[in-house]
Amino acid sequence: MTKAQSEALGEHWNKFEIPLQGIINPKELFPSLKPKEVVFEIGSGMGEATSQIAANNPDTGYVAVEVHRPGIGALIIRAENLGVRNLKIINADIYEVLTRHIEDQSIDAFHIFFPDPWPKRKQHKRRLLQPGFIEILAKKLKPNGRVNIATDWYPYAQEIEKNFALSKDFSGGVIERPTWRPLTKFESKGINKEHVVTDFEYRKKA
Ligand SMILES: C[S@@+](CC[C@H](N)C(=O)[O-])C[C@H]1O[C@@H](n2cnc3c(N)ncnc32)[C@H](O)[C@@H]1O
Repeated sequence: MTKAQSEALGEHWNKFEIPLQGIINPKELFPSLKPKEVVFEIGSGMGEATSQIAANNPDTGYVAVEVHRPGIGALIIRAENLGVRNLKIINADIYEVLTRHIEDQSIDAFHIFFPDPWPKRKQHKRRLLQPGFIEILAKKLKPNGRVNIATDWYPYAQEIEKNFALSKDFSGGVIERPTWRPLTKFESKGINKEHVVTDFEYRKKA
């Protein structure tokens, strides 16, 4: 963790933190804002996309869920620089968050940008977007809720498409790159290595 990230956490964490206790009601997370939607981002990394999307959509509430604390420090620096007030952060594993702390049918949308691809065959079982997790996403979304995904690892894109096709809860598939999704350093590096980026949007059936 850099000094700046550690200082940002020390100074501002209490403004952004959602403590992981009891049941979290997404509707109650932004009492003064009364957002039209609450979007959960899974794995916000260094927060480049998260902070820009939140700054560009001040009437939507965003909840970033990330296990990596230095990344949270980086996200807080970016959010503070942009004056973002519609963002909360949970420093925990998304499985724990969703399975123990979030009511069913309470989230409007999930953003999952560049989930770890785990490229080696032996590691595939660690990938996030497996059928069991897709079922959890469906349970936690409101009817018509959305999942937006981007990956620059083509074999993972194929697996994502296959796994969502197996789900009876979702419709959708590959989409054009959404104009609202900012181009991050992470993505640019992939593009420079000639990785093809695939975007998906799935909608929970009503
Ligand atoms: C490859 S990075 C992508 C980060 C960011 N979305 C981006 O586009 O730059 C994947 C991120 O997901 C986080 N992550 C992986 N598994 C997670 C989990 N189970 N719960 C929360 N975050 C997770 C990692 O710590 C990492 O920051």
